[in-house]
Amino acid sequence: MRLKTKKLVLASDHAGFYLKNALVKLFTEAGYDVIDCGTDSDSSCDYPVFAEKLCDKINSGEAELGILCCGTGIGMSMAANKVKGIRCAHCHDVFSAEATRQHNDANIIAFGARVIGIATAEMIVDEFLNAELVTEVAFGRYRFKSKGQFEKVLLFSSVILVGLVGIIFKSEILTTICSIVGI
Ligand code: RB5
Repeated sequence: MRLKTKKLVLASDHAGFYLKNALVKLFTEAGYDVIDCGTDSDSSCDYPVFAEKLCDKINSGEAELGILCCGTGIGMSMAANKVKGIRCAHCHDVFSAEATRQHNDANIIAFGARVIGIATAEMIVDEFLNAELVTEVAFGRYRFKSKGQFEKVLLFSSVILVGLVGIIFKSEILTTICSIVGI
């Protein structure tokens, strides 16, 4: 196992509990700093609660990358992607795991313990943790243009426009006053 990213956070619901525990053990032994956000047993629980706990650790900077496990990986990825600042990739193959780091700057990976086994999960996560962001993404070419960003641009443009109209209008008044006064 390679070691580029050091700080990891993992979480699961009851369905992903055993897979998550196996990965926590594996990464801890491999020398990663691992935060385990639960769940702590295979008793039925709500996956969005654990997805949110994990997202908070990424957004606070306590962890660089996150791993979410549930039955399918679908619910966890949906829940995580509702959180601002989170780009969670739902994938079950090595190629997608590498590509989503390279091209989408994904900060979380989600998969299903009812879909893949531990050996496949290990290979997928290894690829995810060690892939490099490609230059285009690093320079923002593929960055998502969120609704919030669009609104900010609109607000900024409106302020500039109102300012310009104000300046033009004022200078016209000034010119009129000057011509009346005769200067
Ligand atoms: C739990 O039974 C299951 O619904 C959950 O782990 C997950 O697969 C949801 O997406």
